[in-house]
Amino acid sequence: MGVRVPPSANHGEPMKTKGRVAIFLSGRGSNFEAIYQNSLKKEANFEVVVIISNKKSARGLEKAKEYGLPAFFISPKKFGLKTAYEKEIIKTLKKHDVDLICLAGYMKIVGEELLRAYENRILNIHPALLPAFPGLHAQKQALDYGVKVSGCTVHFVDAGVDSGPVILQQAVAVEPGDDEETLSQRILKEEHRIYSAALRLYFENRLKISERNVIILA
Ligand code: GAR
Repeated sequence: MGVRVPPSANHGEPMKTKGRVAIFLSGRGSNFEAIYQNSLKKEANFEVVVIISNKKSARGLEKAKEYGLPAFFISPKKFGLKTAYEKEIIKTLKKHDVDLICLAGYMKIVGEELLRAYENRILNIHPALLPAFPGLHAQKQALDYGVKVSGCTVHFVDAGVDSGPVILQQAVAVEPGDDEETLSQRILKEEHRIYSAALRLYFENRLKISERNVIILA
């Protein structure tokens, strides 16, 4: 049986208030910025309420602070076990009344604790057309393989690496002479667009997970 997400207390009607989004990042934070800028638009149905990073030096964390957003470095090392680390994260998420987590260049595998607490409420963006080229350096993997088309994927997060049900994908042509940098830039532009598109669908309550499939309701 399919699972409608978020659990619909609103009987399939679009949500009335803005969805509250947490962004997890480890580095540059360009996807965070794109989501944040889109959230400021009048028609946006989501808002960014907290940023969490596992890296103290993440540029995205600095940018979040510049925007005046609540932004926290939570050190995995300080907590030792992943469950303890994620319990601390969950405390922060609860404090900010988060509906949905967006991984945006968050280079850590999400553990059981978070997956249980936010079941079907964690999204990720990946710079390849999954299931091709999961993991690190997806754009380089695509170039090394010699594909003519790559792209990006927004998907629900499960216990694997870049393996959960696919929500949206955008193909990007590999041009002759592309290197990792040029292909990454072209894919990134599409990442910035489809991540917010997926968020909009999520908070319109239009995503239904049916085993591996994500059905987009009309
Ligand atoms: C993005 O290209 C994102 O797709 C990728 O990390 C980059 C983060 O950039 N994520 C993965 O590879 C996840 N497997 P950003 O910090 O500028 O958003």
